[in-house]
Amino acid sequence: MTVPRRRLLVATGSAHKLIELQRLLGDLPIDLVTLREVGITDESPEEGATFEENALQKARWYAQASGEWTLADDSGLEVSALNGAPGVYTRRYAGPDATDVQNYEKLLAETAGVVDRTARFVCTMALIDPANGSERTFRGECQGTLATAPRGEFGFGYDPIFEVDGRTMAERAPTEKDALSHRGRAAALVAAALRSDLQP
Ligand code: IMP
Repeated sequence: MTVPRRRLLVATGSAHKLIELQRLLGDLPIDLVTLREVGITDESPEEGATFEENALQKARWYAQASGEWTLADDSGLEVSALNGAPGVYTRRYAGPDATDVQNYEKLLAETAGVVDRTARFVCTMALIDPANGSERTFRGECQGTLATAPRGEFGFGYDPIFEVDGRTMAERAPTEKDALSHRGRAAALVAAALRSDLQP
């Protein structure tokens, strides 16, 4: 029996996250559409105290604006020696318009000489269906350590300074990152839920 395809809005303004999500969810019988494709140029507020609150706020905002079945994500880095910072402020760590390099250089400076370099990446995805009002969240984590200097060419954000098993995420090819990453793990849970939703 042919499974009917559904549209799913991938509600992120980050080109890097979009590429990862398209790779992670691309095998499903779903047509992924982008904010640009549905004509949304405004950005959702992001005022929550947790990744889950932010993911839900973004998914609700974009679902309301588009009327589409919507997936939004919020993610960030929690450093043990900084009591979980930068957490929900990961994107704005070095200021509201900070670049990836400015953000991770600030984190390297803040943790210079720190012995306990354990950290984890967290990703929460929120899936909202405006047709029936359902809201679900999915959380993925990736445990690692902070490097003392950036290494590697791949990825984005803090990947050059986030190590798992001695190699940074930026030293790993995209599919290798997907198998380990917070976003890969959350997306695997989303994919399982979507497959079940799409059962005839
Ligand atoms: P968000 O857009 O509020 O979710 O911001 C997430 C922040 O965490 C941004 O600074 C991203 O660069 C960073 N980030 C999220 N996921 C990753 C990743 O997979 N690798 C490296 N940095 C990431």
